[in-house]
Amino acid sequence: MRIYTSIADLRRRAQQRVPRAIFEYADRGSYDELTLRRNRAALEALELRQRVMIDLTQRSTATTVLGQPWSMPVAIAPTGLTGLFHRDGEIQGALAAEAFGVPFALSTMSICSIEDVRAAVTQPFWFQLYMMKDRGFNEEMVARARAAQCSALILTVDLVVQGLRRRDVHNGLTIPPRFTLANLLDIMTRPRWALGVLCGKRRSFGNLAGRIEASSGLGTLSQWIASQSDASITWKEIDWLRARWPGKLIVKGILDVEDAKLAAAAGVDAMIVSNHGGRQLDGAPATISVLPEVVEAAAGRCEVLFDGGVQCGQDVLKALALGARACLVGKSFLYGLAADGRRGVTRMLEILRAELEVSMALTGCTDVRHIDRRVLRLPSHLSGSPS
Ligand code: GLV
Repeated sequence: MRIYTSIADLRRRAQQRVPRAIFEYADRGSYDELTLRRNRAALEALELRQRVMIDLTQRSTATTVLGQPWSMPVAIAPTGLTGLFHRDGEIQGALAAEAFGVPFALSTMSICSIEDVRAAVTQPFWFQLYMMKDRGFNEEMVARARAAQCSALILTVDLVVQGLRRRDVHNGLTIPPRFTLANLLDIMTRPRWALGVLCGKRRSFGNLAGRIEASSGLGTLSQWIASQSDASITWKEIDWLRARWPGKLIVKGILDVEDAKLAAAAGVDAMIVSNHGGRQLDGAPATISVLPEVVEAAAGRCEVLFDGGVQCGQDVLKALALGARACLVGKSFLYGLAADGRRGVTRMLEILRAELEVSMALTGCTDVRHIDRRVLRLPSHLSGSPS
């Protein structure tokens, strides 16, 4: 058994296990990757306050989010192409998440379809929707998510046009993966991946099969998004969705106070502070930098969730300290999955929980639901507990 003590260990293993084009799709960001780096740098820059001589015998990471109990305040973010990181990757991720007691979010751009995942799990999962020009497609996806009894719908709003991911272009990332002279060697040196994924039955976008022409050979993901994505969407879509989706509705991609106010006014159940993992607007702020102002703008009207660079339990503690109800992990999830399938995802969750538990204890916190700004060493004007 390999020893993984950190998300970085899982990342290193992932890099060995999957072809470069797949690994870099997860690992890298858009343009010059300023925002990608900022997400991590801003989290790292926050200092935790060490506290001592506090009774730590009873400690808990359990919480409730959107009315549901979670074993810790971490969910698996929707990520595209997950089933290319490991055979049946979405199913493996969903199974690991449900055993751990945290939600799994399935992306529109998944390899396993909604129905594939539904057939494999016992707990409801979340479904993430991109609004496409084809309204029939949107209707159908919402209906399928309902039929699969998904417990929340996430509308991602920050990818209506796509930021350039230079590595994907250089790597010629195609769906399904194709053998080319350039990637042949790369694939040949990863026989377990080739056997698992290339010889598996699911290699293309499961949710799009039969719906969009040639979903068995869509070329590059960015070409497909560029041609299909509905760039006309506005906050009116929330009403459109509400008329079709009776469950919890989450909007993902909020990074500005004005948008936070509009989202709260539109009546969403939760918003996710996100810059798409540094994969869209390069030059945008780190998500942790805008989190406090978004929480203030939401003013308790909905829950505020957080993603962007969460790669250790201390990051979770910091996000909760600044008002997030919970965090989502995308890259960390894909590293775990690529490293060792379902076991790797479970290990990723264990690592985050152990780091969170210890860091809570060392900052004098016994209950994750009571984390607030007092765990941070902040400049005095920012240090009051949130009201
Ligand atoms: C999809 O959401 C992506 O970031 O590739």
